[in-house]
Amino acid sequence: MLISTVPVQGPIGVFDSGYGGLTILSKFRELLPQYDYLYLGDNARTPYGTRSFEVVYEFTLQAVRRLFELGCPLVILACNTASAKALRSIQQNDLPYLDATRRVLGVIRPTAECIGSITETRHVGLLATAGTVKSGSYPLEIHKLFPDIQVTGMACPLWVPLVENNEADSEGADYFVNKYISRLLERDPAIDTLILGCTHYPLLINKIRRFTPARIRLVSQGEYVSRSLKDYLLRHPEMDSRCSKNGRCEFLTTESVEKFRECASVFLQQDVDVRSITLG
Ligand code: DGL
Repeated sequence: MLISTVPVQGPIGVFDSGYGGLTILSKFRELLPQYDYLYLGDNARTPYGTRSFEVVYEFTLQAVRRLFELGCPLVILACNTASAKALRSIQQNDLPYLDATRRVLGVIRPTAECIGSITETRHVGLLATAGTVKSGSYPLEIHKLFPDIQVTGMACPLWVPLVENNEADSEGADYFVNKYISRLLERDPAIDTLILGCTHYPLLINKIRRFTPARIRLVSQGEYVSRSLKDYLLRHPEMDSRCSKNGRCEFLTTESVEKFRECASVFLQQDVDVRSITLG
């Protein structure tokens, strides 16, 4: 009798504390439309940016466990804060016990990889949540690859609430967008490249551009993270064969379905089908 060797397939899990990961998901779907995706937003407990390491790790682990239970062979932490505070521990300590054949990847390494070929002055600015800046993950990853690059971080605590509350295009947002960019450039005027190190920030990109001198390049992560995922799947055919490919996308939220639907349409410019779950 012939025993089938086709592995059990499942969607690629995409996790964020809230809606920001949808900016990454959109880029995945643009570049890799054939795959299935299962998006999970922990909207009930967002933001993660101001939470401790222990809490972000615990919440992120709960989300990864759930996405594994739901059949995802691969989970992308489409959240810089979770990537900075939880990814390494999950990869090193939890994955061997949870399921050593599955993988969890983040968004910081792919962003760090692209920086070396973008900056000329070798002075790079990082705009991110307080948690991501404090973790030191960006300078760490960038210095592993490009030790000559100087990284200066600036926490932008009000940017996520502006986006989550649909105020990204309001006049009121101008003050806070200008404030953090000016402070960062005062600290290091030689910066020629700015990393938008939070998956919410692409929604503020028009304003960020307006308050950033034209000589400075803005690095929005979606494009680099999606290229990195494509490359990863090419280099790991065993994982690629476990990712289902029907072009489907499903959404889960820990908040109410109505709220997610309303806010997600701001990020995706389309209506979504979403289910509510609880984590923990
Ligand atoms: N989207 C998250 C990130 O990329 C930030 C949102 C939050 O603070 O939870 O860091």
